[in-house]
Amino acid sequence: MRPSIAISIVLFMALLFVPASVLVGVDHVIAVNPINLGPVISPFLYGVFFEDINHAVDGGLYAELVRNRSFEHTDRIEGWSVVLEKGCKASFSIKSERPVNGNNTSYLRFDIESDDRRVILSNDGYDGIPLVGGESYIFSSFIRGDDYSGEIEIRLMDSQGNSIITASLGSKFADLWERYSVVLEVPEDCHDGRLALILKGSGLICLDMISLLPERNWHGMRPDLLEMLKELKPGFLRFPGGCLVEGDSLENSYRWKDTIGPVEERKANYNLWGYNQSYGIGFFEYLILAEYLGAEPVPIFNAGISCQVRGAEYCSMNTMDGWVQDVLDFIEFANGPTESSWGAKRAELGHPEPFNVTYIGVGNENWGNEYHERFALFQKAIKDKHPEIVILFSGPPSYEGAPFNRAWRWARQNAVEIIDEHIYAVPEWMLRNTERYDKYDREGPKVMLGEYAAHEAGRRNTLQAALAEAALMTGLERNSDVVIMAAYAPLFNRPGWSQWTPDLIWFDSTRVYGTPSYHVQRIFNRNLGDIIVDSSLTDEDVEVIGYWFKSLYHSCSFDYETGDLIIKVVNPWPEDKEVLVEIDEATKVTGKGEATVITSDSIFDGNTFEDPERIVPMTTVLSDFSNRFTFSFEGNSITVLRLNTGSL
Ligand code: AHR
Repeated sequence: MRPSIAISIVLFMALLFVPASVLVGVDHVIAVNPINLGPVISPFLYGVFFEDINHAVDGGLYAELVRNRSFEHTDRIEGWSVVLEKGCKASFSIKSERPVNGNNTSYLRFDIESDDRRVILSNDGYDGIPLVGGESYIFSSFIRGDDYSGEIEIRLMDSQGNSIITASLGSKFADLWERYSVVLEVPEDCHDGRLALILKGSGLICLDMISLLPERNWHGMRPDLLEMLKELKPGFLRFPGGCLVEGDSLENSYRWKDTIGPVEERKANYNLWGYNQSYGIGFFEYLILAEYLGAEPVPIFNAGISCQVRGAEYCSMNTMDGWVQDVLDFIEFANGPTESSWGAKRAELGHPEPFNVTYIGVGNENWGNEYHERFALFQKAIKDKHPEIVILFSGPPSYEGAPFNRAWRWARQNAVEIIDEHIYAVPEWMLRNTERYDKYDREGPKVMLGEYAAHEAGRRNTLQAALAEAALMTGLERNSDVVIMAAYAPLFNRPGWSQWTPDLIWFDSTRVYGTPSYHVQRIFNRNLGDIIVDSSLTDEDVEVIGYWFKSLYHSCSFDYETGDLIIKVVNPWPEDKEVLVEIDEATKVTGKGEATVITSDSIFDGNTFEDPERIVPMTTVLSDFSNRFTFSFEGNSITVLRLNTGSL
């Protein structure tokens, strides 16, 4: 049968693992020669790209349960509803006189006439507020009781309005902004809860920064999503975008100084992806997140240009100093001594030790002279003051063609150290381009493949997409002297609140699962060798709809710590492949090892909330194999073999 990546017939076969001596007729060979070493593999080759798209932060990793807590959204009362008890005379409005502070300009004011009727203000978060029995939740709000007398009750309730727990905030509220808070211990689970403030008094009362945060959080982050990131063991964290950094216009481009300090002082802004961002996770949190994950932080800064794909606003060249200074200030914030003004700010936020940021990106998906002349200003200013900082130059959105070639030419002529390429392509393209980086100039700029994903028709997260990405990754690994960082994109998706598929991790209020692509990232990174080992595949290519593909895609590396040879093999075709694995006799295997395999019945399979583990890696212990053995690589599978050698 002619193999097809569009139609997959799955053969249910147990892993066939037999000594070579009993095998006849195997004409597919992977020959490994561990004495011939290739490039050293970048220790941070596989990382994550974090952008607040698809509500990855607000309504996602940021544990805040209230939507639009500060009434700064474009629709100022989005997320909120007001119910007046029968006969109650009251009105509300969004005000900006005497705000909590100059960055947080809007708040909600009630003018309540009747003092024996209640006003109920409630928020349903994102698809309801998830409440877990036995857990504690911190309610807080800034309140200014201009002329108000009466109690404010806090209530957590279910979607029908039934009370789950209540607490009183008291009945005395100063006519200056003050933060009031109370901890609520929830007795029972409610996945679809509401937060309500019940105003029982009369007069003028102002509310802002109404927050409900689970006590179980890490620096404001949701533990289950954090765990998913930790599991990836990412080598770097590229943040905070993406197009988000650029903005629709310069007005909503990402400015890091707006995102640090007490949350009520952060300058919320609307997001290029169509929603408001609270900046509850800002630059400081991204840095501590990178530290927690053991990942190299890679912040990306706006180059003074809003999203070029969306029309581009260029800041005038005589205002460039401000944009450049922002980056210099950031370097001082991240790395400077605590005696410096920005270093002192870092210490004040609880991190006196420097973050030792080394990589900084200027621009995202930018191109052309306007970008080049602006980049050159950043490059000069940063290198003059901080020669130790490595600056990433942005490639255009395309990964081939004229703008791409022009970007590379400019990069080569202008001492660019790393260029940020992005590849969103159909699976077939990935399979046909696994040797893309074999041809790159070893002396030129290095590559960060800052964003990539296979986009099949329908843009779903299927095994088919994961197979293509894994195949491409074998090529990244083999060329890790050129490609030093690579990240799948985007990272998170909250269905119902998303703008982009496919994505690596899907979640809702209470659940999370990894897509097949996630599991590929995880097993590739957890089995990242230290150095590439010479290996070759002998097999016939495969013709599919007039195109030629490899029958298998592979890479081979060595892990010094364990003495393991690591062979990664992707079989994107429906048939199982019996392969003779031949390891040069100069290196003896100990006969101990394991095989980790990702596969499924159909290439169109994916994981879902209902079936989150349909496609997960399965590990089998291997024993008693010698330097020559055969292995059956299942149809439509990604396999990582770890073969122990004791030493190199
Ligand atoms: O990953 C989603 C978007 O894709 C990024 O924001 C942008 O850089 C690219 O176009």
